[in-house]
This record gives sequence, structure tokens and C-alpha cells, in this order.
Amino acid sequence: MRTKKLFTTALLAASTVKAQSFLEVVQKTPELSLFSAIVSGLNDTFTDLLKSLGPSDAGRTILVPNDQAIQSFMVSNNIKSPADVPVEKVIPFLSYHVLVNNISSAQFAKPGGAVVETKLQDERYALLGNNSGQVVFGTRKESEEKKKAAVEIKSGVEGGAVQIVKQDVVFNQGFIHVVDGFLTLPTNCSKTIEHQGAERLVTYIKRLGLLDTLDSYPGATCFAPSDAAIENALPVLMNMTDAQLIDAIKFHTLLDAYYTPNLKNGQVIETSLIGASITVNVVDGDYYFNGVLAKTTNDIARNGVAYLLDGIMPLTFNGTITPSMPSTTSAQSTSTAPPTGTSTGVEGTETTVGAGTTTPAPTAIGTPNVAAAATARGSIFMAGALALLALF
Ligand SMILES: *[C@@H]1O[C@H](CO)[C@@H](O)[C@H](O)[C@H]1NC(C)=O
Ligand SMILES: *[C@@H]1O[C@H](CO)[C@@H](O)[C@H](O)[C@H]1NC(C)=O
Ligand SMILES: *[C@@H]1O[C@H](CO)[C@@H](O)[C@H](O)[C@H]1NC(C)=O
Ligand SMILES: *[C@@H]1O[C@H](CO)[C@@H](O)[C@H](O)[C@H]1NC(C)=O
Ligand SMILES: *[C@@H]1O[C@H](CO)[C@@H](O)[C@H](O)[C@H]1NC(C)=O
Ligand SMILES: *[C@@H]1O[C@H](CO)[C@@H](O)[C@H](O)[C@H]1NC(C)=O
Repeated sequence: MRTKKLFTTALLAASTVKAQSFLEVVQKTPELSLFSAIVSGLNDTFTDLLKSLGPSDAGRTILVPNDQAIQSFMVSNNIKSPADVPVEKVIPFLSYHVLVNNISSAQFAKPGGAVVETKLQDERYALLGNNSGQVVFGTRKESEEKKKAAVEIKSGVEGGAVQIVKQDVVFNQGFIHVVDGFLTLPTNCSKTIEHQGAERLVTYIKRLGLLDTLDSYPGATCFAPSDAAIENALPVLMNMTDAQLIDAIKFHTLLDAYYTPNLKNGQVIETSLIGASITVNVVDGDYYFNGVLAKTTNDIARNGVAYLLDGIMPLTFNGTITPSMPSTTSAQSTSTAPPTGTSTGVEGTETTVGAGTTTPAPTAIGTPNVAAAATARGSIFMAGALALLALF
């Protein structure tokens, strides 16, 4: 007991010294002069943030925006000087830049990237299981020739990803990575998917009274068929009852936040629709859910994570992925289209493939699946409706 107490005291004392080291490092780095000025203006608030012990005090990683980033932030927010940055507004904001682990840029750059918890715990921006802090997702940016191996960090979707421009600057508590912009505070799941191109889905969610449920569930995964996907499925959707639509939306929601580093090829995950699961497939770095391609992954939301899907997930999936990238596989994807579920995933292809199969194909293909699924599972839909509503 006594030893433990002494140890804790020693740690606290040590971290006081370490926190100053962060400032020392920042003050010595020319391109961080504005950040240094902002933090100095906050008295001890920021250094207290670094001092506070996390669940496992395994070090910290601080993402520090460079002068250029802060300059443009101040201009767009009409702030004249770093001293004018309002403390109460900037703290939740800066806490998002403090990662509760010691993460090198190499760890972000490894295949699949990394999800890391931050000190952002303000419930307006972080509503996750176990009161965890909000996360960021870091990964090596693909197909960026001029800046090879650049690592980008995803936060709230509205501001876009930021890029690490100077990596692995060491300070006593871990690493500093200099980034070319501020992170963006995440918004609710519905706002996030709306921004990413699933406005029509949100219209359904609102009409069916599911909005608050979706946005207040702590730690969810929201699969959002794109506007084009909904458009293509309209003939089917128009014939579905509200109860069936509600079930379909529940089928597109998981009751835990699954970021891609937590997903494995072949993994089966229960959805919030009782008795219904989806299968994950990872093909050439692309993620498929019940055979439907994810056009975006790891879209960080206040209450979890979202994926924009290329189609509506069929209830049943036989495990066959239809390649969905147009150029080389167009013949293949059109020929494999008819039989079952996987085909709703490929309508994005149709527009680019053009030629013969264009207009009727996507709806005709999508239609039987959803319709068949709906009727085949009709009993589940009906019988389960009340229980399902209680679930949320
Ligand atoms: C900094 O500390 C001084 C003295 O405690 C206080 O008067 C001032 O309001 C503080 N400034 C900020 C920005 O918190
Ligand atoms: C929440 O905490 C409990 C108990 O510590 C743990 O078993 C569980 O895995 C945690 N859940 C998440 C999502 O981290
Ligand atoms: C952070 O990680 C680096 C490399 O793994 C290591 O050298 C350093 O000691 C770590 N720092 C802390 C404070 O854990
Ligand atoms: C997020 O959703 C919750 C639940 O509906 C709501 O209370 C809150 O105001 C929303 N927050 C934002 C930023 O939209
Ligand atoms: C929708 O319902 C109408 C009337 O029952 C029917 O004629 C039509 O074929 C249905 N459409 C689809 C796509 O199932
Ligand atoms: C699974 O579905 C695909 C495409 O929908 C089809 O080509 C294939 O024959 C099916 N495989 C099995 C084993 O049913």
C-alpha cells in the first residue's frame, strides 16, 4: 500500500517535469511557434491535460498543428492573435490532439493503420462504450506519389483528414507528430453519414423516428448505403412497410464501434436486428459487408464509426464477393450479377461500365434480393418488430 502511494506520488512529480519538456520541445521547434503561443496563453490547462494519468499511462502522442495550419484556422475563424483563442472552446478541441498512447508514425503506417484513443471525453463529441475517449484513425495515405509514405489522420469527417508533416519528435512522455491542420470534432452518426453522401438514408431515419436512437447509442457502427444505392433500390423500398424499413436500418447498425483494425476477413458480426448477422470480407485492402463494398471506412462519429456503402446489404450472403472495381473486371461483374445477394454491391460499377447493361440492370439486380429477403424473412420482421423496438 505504502509503496503504491509513494510510487503514484513519484509518477505525478515526474510527469510535472515531463510536461514541461513538451513545452520545451514545442518552443524549440520553429514551425510550432503559434501553437506554443496558444498553449502558453492557456496557463496550465494544457499541461494539466498532459499530466493527468490515463487508464494505462503508457505515454502520450501529441498531434501539433504547424504554424501554417494555425494561421489559416485563425483567418477562417476571424481570430486576430493566439491570445484571443477562447479557452473554454479550445480545450475540448486540444484534448482531441492528445493521444493516450505512445504511437510512432510507423505504427500508423503499418498495413491496416491504427485506431488510437484520445483525451477527448467531452460528451458532446465522444459517446462511446465504457466512457472511452474519442479516437482517431491513422493510416498510410494511398496513391499519393509526391509525398510517399505520408501518414494521414482521420477525425470528424467535416474537416477532412490531416497529414503528418514531421514525425516522431521525441519528448519525455512519448512522441509529437507535426500535422498540417487541426483535427475536427466529430458529429453524431446521422450528421456524419449525411456529410459523406447518405442524405437519403437520413431522411428515412428521420421519418421512421430512429434519429435520436441512432445518435444517442454509445458506440455504434453505422453502415450507410449511399444516395445512389438508395436511388437504385427505390422500387423495392417503396413497397416496404415502415416496420420492414426499420428492420432494414437496424440490420445496417452494429451495437459496438468496429473500426477496420478490429475487422478480420471472414468475421461474422451480429447486427442490431435480432438474429441477423453480417459477414466481413477484406479483398485487396477493400472492405465488403455481406458482399457490399465500403466506399469510405472509419468515418469517425461522435457515437462510433460509419461506413458509406456502395449498396444495400442483402440479408443473406453466400460468401462470394463480386469484384466491384470497373476497369479490369467489368465483364465479370456483369455476368455474375443475377443470382443472389452480392449484386446490390456493384451498382456503382454500372455507371462507369456504361455500355450495354446500364439503366435497368442495377435496380433489376438489386430488386429481387431485397424483396426476396424481405418476404423470406417476413415472419422474423413481423414477429420481431416489438422486440426490436425495445432493443434500441
Ligand atoms: C491565468 O491565470 C491567472 C492567474 O491565476 C488568471 O487570472 C487568468 O484568468 C488565467 N488565464 C486563463 C486564460 O486561464
Ligand atoms: C468495458 O469494460 C468492461 C469491464 O472492464 C470490459 O469487459 C469490456 O470489454 C469493455 N468494453 C469495451 C467496449 O471496451
Ligand atoms: C515511446 O516509444 C518509443 C519507441 O517505441 C520509445 O523509444 C520511447 O521510450 C517511448 N516513450 C515513452 C514515454 O513511453
Ligand atoms: C446528437 O444526438 C443526440 C441524440 O439525439 C442529441 O441530443 C444531440 O444534440 C446531437 N448532437 C449534435 C451535435 O447534433
Ligand atoms: C410493388 O408493389 C406493386 C403493387 O403490389 C407491384 O405491382 C410491384 O411489382 C411491386 N414492386 C416491386 C419492386 O416489388
Ligand atoms: C453465391 O452467389 C454468387 C453471386 O451472387 C453466385 O455466382 C454463386 O454461384 C453463389 N455460390 C454458391 C455456393 O451458392
